[in-house]
Amino acid sequence: MIFRTEIVWYKQIMLKRTAWGSFKSPSNPHIVPSWEYILVFSKFQPKLEGNSKDADITSEEFMKFSDGFWQIPPETQRNGHPAPFPEELIYRLIKFYSYKGNTILDMFGGTGTVAVVAKTTNRNFIHIDISKEYCKVAEKRLNLAKEKLSQAKLNIIMDEN
Ligand SMILES: C[S@@+](CC[C@H](N)C(=O)[O-])C[C@H]1O[C@@H](n2cnc3c(N)ncnc32)[C@H](O)[C@@H]1O
Repeated sequence: MIFRTEIVWYKQIMLKRTAWGSFKSPSNPHIVPSWEYILVFSKFQPKLEGNSKDADITSEEFMKFSDGFWQIPPETQRNGHPAPFPEELIYRLIKFYSYKGNTILDMFGGTGTVAVVAKTTNRNFIHIDISKEYCKVAEKRLNLAKEKLSQAKLNIIMDEN
């Protein structure tokens, strides 16, 4: 694997913090790590082969996402999982680093955020999680996403008519 870059996911949680340490005193104040790093690697070679017609990121998205400081609040809708990714985070990674029709693997897929975003952005997905419960929730979310997609397609067809 070739190391490419790190992205800082800034979670914007400082307003809700309670752990100040020694508040307003240098005796033992706390810094809160309000960010996580996303480490990006390429397999074998930096270039991802694909057809340019399957690149579906917009200019605005490309310019926005190529700045490696991503301000995205943590997911509040947890679907019974303690640490789901926010859909926006996965959306950016998928759009920036894959073509339509690519397959996105999440081997720690939890309640299916990656699978849902892959589906709604016209990618294939492989979802794996050790918990059957989480896989069931992921399946429900996927079915809901599929329904919304087909409804959206129907609306587009009706608009065109
Ligand atoms: C941080 S969570 C992932 C959350 C997920 N990305 C989402 O948005 O819902 C990590 C997941 O890894 C799963 N896990 C832990 N050990 C595993 C293993 N050995 N094989 C597969 N999944 C595992 C846990 O059940 C947990 O759902």
